[in-house]
Amino acid sequence: MNLEQLHQTCSTCTACKLAPTRQNVVFGEGNPNARLMLIGEGPGQEEDRTGRPFVGQAGQLLDQILAAVGWSRADVYIANVVKCRPPNNRNPETDEVAACDHWLLEQIRLIRPQVIITLGNVPTQWALSTTLGITKTRGQWAEFKKLSAPIALLPMFHPAYLLRNAIRTVGGPKWLTWQDIKAVKAKLEAMPEKPDQTLEVEQTTLF
Ligand code: URA
Ligand code: SF4
Ligand code: URA
Repeated sequence: MNLEQLHQTCSTCTACKLAPTRQNVVFGEGNPNARLMLIGEGPGQEEDRTGRPFVGQAGQLLDQILAAVGWSRADVYIANVVKCRPPNNRNPETDEVAACDHWLLEQIRLIRPQVIITLGNVPTQWALSTTLGITKTRGQWAEFKKLSAPIALLPMFHPAYLLRNAIRTVGGPKWLTWQDIKAVKAKLEAMPEKPDQTLEVEQTTLF
């Protein structure tokens, strides 16, 4: 299946208990050949209504963060760990992530990003198979190891968290986010263009 076929198939998924209350499956969007992929937690109200990732307030801040280093949404690919909105924006539950993450993993496999940004606790803990909180993992380069070749990964704060902590003090969350996105830019600039490789799911890490 290519990315478009995967999108079509995912759009009618009813594999977990989030299906009955959603309006739209939010598959993800952007450049299917992106060098950078961003992973959020799950759709909120505006995303559920429109079927598009990060289009609410947090999404607008994310656009600004990308714009700070000269990127637009068309340059990157944006997706979430779960594709349907958890009621009242609660965190997705373990069984929901377990039912849904094969979609995301296949997106990553097909897009073959050279760098992944995880936004906040839920995607970071999923991607790194860790229980460490985002304040410990943020800003530390790590590797995404669920596919046959490792992908550089930087955990960053979730933009919704930045909206709640908007003051731009040196050393504060917003300041740290600007350092992080500049580090991602520098990392990609230092890398050669995308190699022509095929990634496979690393079966040993799927548990
Ligand atoms: N928050 C997320 O984690 N994902 C979205 O798509 C929107 C808000
Ligand atoms: Fe399917 Fe994922 Fe939606 Fe659950 S959240 S119904 S697994 S697409
Ligand atoms: N707390 C969160 O829930 N998310 C963040 O990104 C940072 C702190």
